[in-house]
Amino acid sequence: MKKVFAAITGVEAYVPADVLTNADLEKMVDTTDEWIVTRTGIKERHILREPGKGSSDLAVPAVKKLLEKTGTSPDEVDLLICASATHDHDFPATANIISDKVGVKNAYSFDISAACSGFIFMLTVASKFIETGTAKKVICVGADKMSAITDYTDRSTCPLFGDASGVVLLEPSEEYGIQDHILGVDGAGRHHLYLKAGGSVRPASHETVDAREHFIYQEGQIVFKVAVQKMADVSVEMMKKHHLTPEDLTWLVPHQANLRIIEAVARRMGISRDQVMINIEKYGNTTTATIPLCLRDYESQLKKGDKLILSAFGGGYTWGALYLTWAYDPDKVV
Ligand code: ACO
Repeated sequence: MKKVFAAITGVEAYVPADVLTNADLEKMVDTTDEWIVTRTGIKERHILREPGKGSSDLAVPAVKKLLEKTGTSPDEVDLLICASATHDHDFPATANIISDKVGVKNAYSFDISAACSGFIFMLTVASKFIETGTAKKVICVGADKMSAITDYTDRSTCPLFGDASGVVLLEPSEEYGIQDHILGVDGAGRHHLYLKAGGSVRPASHETVDAREHFIYQEGQIVFKVAVQKMADVSVEMMKKHHLTPEDLTWLVPHQANLRIIEAVARRMGISRDQVMINIEKYGNTTTATIPLCLRDYESQLKKGDKLILSAFGGGYTWGALYLTWAYDPDKVV
């Protein structure tokens, strides 16, 4: 039997209109534009300020645009998955809410939680439904309203994060698509980057709110070192596994947490900066949305057959890489 690959046949994204610049942050905490740009590469990020709106509201415009762009009717979608670190609610799944809001009625849907590696984990899971013939059209949504869990009095974390969504359509292909994945986790790292309260271990209380435990807690330096090591190791391992030289690879699509991490990973892979998708300066770290947001921004430069490695690291710890071949030429959505 011929092997079936899960190919990305369309990509879209959405960022809210409100921009929070480094100059704005200078007025809020003891920081400077120079520190933020030098240490992270971030110049601005977009924030969803409208009260009563969550990650699903970031996802909906992107999913609607994707359906229109790929000529897909909501009725044709078999499966919708959402990866997020900022689900609308603990339950029901944000994927269910997105499905309802975009009119996807004949599909099942569920959420995936793997922090900043969520998009890679989600694509891996989704590809299995396509490869086995269980689903023909799968929508994968990375959506994160990071501003909801960012402490804007904490200068060590508030410059890092932004709000966005990114979405892809996966369909079967005989030639192009996801060729391989390598995923990893180390739960021992969970104490260095997490939300202390709000879950079943430490439910919300006056005490947890007063202690600001509903905001991101991160030991930046510790996480930085592991992020570089794991993202570089997994990306190099993928190159070796598929005998890819730096010249063979068209693009590295890295999770955008810190420009210094991205540059270190590219150096370890032996590739040039021209081969790396980078847009962190405009959006900051939008968690599960960074990789599809890069694909959307670079879509016009992508050509059928291009060889891409997608690579990420996040809280958990979680990390992973995907090797895929691009399925369509610019302006020719399949
Ligand atoms: N402005 C000015 N000074 C600052 C700021 C700021 N915004 N933030 C921290 N500083 C100070 C610190 O207080 C410290 O001062 P000191 O030396 O007097 O103590 C100094 O700058 C250096 O601080 P570090 O934390 O060592 O700075 P570092 O170079 O490590 O950069 C950063 C911090 C950007 C957080 C980096 O460690 C990082 O990117 N970490 C990894 C992030 C990541 O990949 N996370 C995983 C994905 S996210 C997810 O899964 C949700």
